Amino acid sequence: MTERTSIHGQWSSRLVFILAATGSAVGLGNIWKFPYITGENGGGAFVLVYLLCIAVVGIPIMMAEVMLGRRGRQSPINTMTALAKEEGASSAWSLVGWSGVLAGFIILSYYSVIAGWALAYVFRVAGGLFNGADAAGVQAVFTGLTGDPERLIAWHTLFMLMSMAVVARGVRAGLEKAVTYLMPALFVLLFVLLGYAMSTGAFIDGLKFLFQPDFGKLFYVCETVAGTESCELSGSPVLVAMGHAFFTLSLGMGAIMVYGSYMPKGTSIARSTVLIALLDTLVALVAGMAIFPIVFANGLEPGSGPGLIFQTLPIAFGAMPGGQFFGTLFFVLLVFAAWSSAISLIEPAVAWLVENRGLTRVRASAVIGMTTWVLGLGSIFSFNIWSGDEYKLFGKTFFDLLDYLAANIMLPLGGLLIALFAGWLMKRESSVDEFAMHAWRYGLWRVLIRYVSPLAVVVVFLNAVGIF
Ligand code: TRP
Repeated sequence: MTERTSIHGQWSSRLVFILAATGSAVGLGNIWKFPYITGENGGGAFVLVYLLCIAVVGIPIMMAEVMLGRRGRQSPINTMTALAKEEGASSAWSLVGWSGVLAGFIILSYYSVIAGWALAYVFRVAGGLFNGADAAGVQAVFTGLTGDPERLIAWHTLFMLMSMAVVARGVRAGLEKAVTYLMPALFVLLFVLLGYAMSTGAFIDGLKFLFQPDFGKLFYVCETVAGTESCELSGSPVLVAMGHAFFTLSLGMGAIMVYGSYMPKGTSIARSTVLIALLDTLVALVAGMAIFPIVFANGLEPGSGPGLIFQTLPIAFGAMPGGQFFGTLFFVLLVFAAWSSAISLIEPAVAWLVENRGLTRVRASAVIGMTTWVLGLGSIFSFNIWSGDEYKLFGKTFFDLLDYLAANIMLPLGGLLIALFAGWLMKRESSVDEFAMHAWRYGLWRVLIRYVSPLAVVVVFLNAVGIF
């Protein structure tokens, strides 16, 4: 096979690929979503299942996505079409690319809304609004923001424009550099917060909640209302844990595939992937260890939902020395983490519009950004004018539904198809050639991608619908 190159350009080195993919992986998923779904799903056992999913489903599929992308060197839709042809498989495999573009739209639409909250918090913390505030005061600021659709729209618009601007310029010009400095800084700040959490006196409670598995909670979800606990049977925490493994590693929709298509040939896919997954996991766990002690020390509810970090971290910033400064910095970095993830949600669709419709990057980004913006309004209203029960379906708001559909159904399904394609349809020589790694490592990947990952996804799905 003659070596293909991407018309969109190439990362300048393996390190840049790692930074970009880590920038994509580390985002709101780690710091906002992981703590709140862990809280909603009972803690320890959920975390354990999540870690297991990262290891046996996430990492092999991530390797497969990078490998397919680098071999195809185009947008995920065209990569899947080209590789399917080359391997003698049906052209229907391009549907993997299409469903990925759709999942990217859906995720970005609400991702931008939450990133908008983080933007708003930069100014609230900087303005000293939380200095000395107690849990109730912090709560009031949060509901003041989320109850006001106009403000939310303004922040959502701003974040969307920021993301469109970067993608329009091409990834290399701006973000590559920014991510180099910002990711390490975010890490350091998380450790500062961890230090504060250790001083709250509830640190051990937080650790127990995160790391002491109570397997009953995987099947029952409990809620404490006015001091009495009520539990109901639920089949979905395992599915949520698996869905989150996909979400946090940016898998199942072509984001990592498109990043792989800009990867130089001759760099190790396996080593880069494992490193990215480890960094991503570390950020999530440190975030959890920083947040839950604050939750317990202040008598807050771990299962309080999407507002969790916005109702806990400001308490810490309000109480600790230099909190106004560190808090501002923290939310700035959270916005950057979200930003470097958002661009990877747009990139597959933009690359396709450039390749197939001849649009410039600027136009393509504008088209995608505006469409996504409109969909985001639904999520905004979920927190205020559409928050009532009459607007819910299966007990979920529009926002919850989109997140559930995209993260827990579309991403695992996309990942399953990617695993089947890379493991079963692609000729062994093709993947051996692209990975160019030690025989035993290749053998391990192959067992995981052919049997373990697809089976795990299928079993978890069947379990969630109550069949197994
Ligand atoms: N992984 C990012 C996070 O944890 C979100 C994200 C970026 C993503 N690109 C993606 C999720 C592609 C799913 C698919 O915040």
